[in-house]
Amino acid sequence: MSQRAVVTAGTGGIGLETAIGLAAAGYAVTVVGRNAERGTHAVQRISAMGAEARFVAADLASLDAVRALAAQLSAEGPLHVLINNVGAMFADRQQTTDQIEATFAVNHLSPYLLTELLLEPLRAGSPSRIVNVTSGSVRVAKRTFDAVEPPGGYYGFHWYGRAKLANLAYTLDLAERLRGTGISVFAADPGGAATTMTNGTMRSPKIVSPALRLLWPLVRRTFERATSGPASAAARPSLLAATDPSLNNQTGLVIGPNAHPTPPFRPSLDPQTIQAVLKLSQQLAPLTQALQ
Ligand SMILES: NC(=O)c1ccc[n+]([C@@H]2O[C@H](COP(=O)([O-])OP(=O)(O)OC[C@H]3O[C@@H](n4cnc5c(N)ncnc54)[C@H](OP(=O)(O)O)[C@@H]3O)[C@@H](O)[C@H]2O)c1
Repeated sequence: MSQRAVVTAGTGGIGLETAIGLAAAGYAVTVVGRNAERGTHAVQRISAMGAEARFVAADLASLDAVRALAAQLSAEGPLHVLINNVGAMFADRQQTTDQIEATFAVNHLSPYLLTELLLEPLRAGSPSRIVNVTSGSVRVAKRTFDAVEPPGGYYGFHWYGRAKLANLAYTLDLAERLRGTGISVFAADPGGAATTMTNGTMRSPKIVSPALRLLWPLVRRTFERATSGPASAAARPSLLAATDPSLNNQTGLVIGPNAHPTPPFRPSLDPQTIQAVLKLSQQLAPLTQALQ
């Protein structure tokens, strides 16, 4: 029987290309997304390769939906690869149904909760791998994590970078926590690609701070250049992290846009940042829920 892989936000963009690559490597792939039509299309593309694929619907902005997804996937037995590819940037501030700021919920809390709830099937499938998709935007983040929202105004790109930084700190700490268990943990930075996310949000000056807005024509050109490539190339870091035999028995690496290990952004290793991120994550996305 084929090994099982799950790709969140696997019905479009970088996630779909990652799912196609995993299918080509012989995995039975589950793609997760909200839109059933895109899910069907993704499954058709993968099945046409002669590979096993299916779509599971879940809105990963909802913590209840993450819990339901984890329960379904756990009940199906050992899992070999989990790719937390979901990510989103919003031009305007949004709340989720859990009343949590959406950037932090989608980019960090959702992958955090799904990962923690899937550790048992990943243990059962070991040697197994977790890949969390990160971003170069971690460099523009405010590094305070005592609350969901940083002080100051809402700027989508910077808040996105901060949520990705929280997730990177969590990822590298998780790698240490799971060292020796047979579950390897990697972060993968896709670099940039022209996708729904980048085409939808990175054209608005609203997403950057007032200081960067003054330089908007230059910033916009930089964004355009950085996100002009195909999603298939941006999927390479995730695919390497998930499948490459050179990473057997390794953990805690960041795979850069050139699909090679790269030194982690230093603030993601800061013990205070890690502790604050873990505390906030445990508060907002408890692994067990009290009965109503
Ligand atoms: N593109 C870049 O330049 C770039 C650069 C650095 C990092 N990244 C990271 O790479 C990852 C993939 O990015 P991308 O550019 O491919 O994004 P994208 O184009 O927005 O991804 C589209 C996919 O995301 C799914 N999706 C979006 N919101 C969802 C939600 N709430 N619940 C479930 N599925 C959801 C969509 O499914 P439905 O339509 O069915 O909901 C679709 O499968 C993200 O983590 C992103 O932060 C991207």
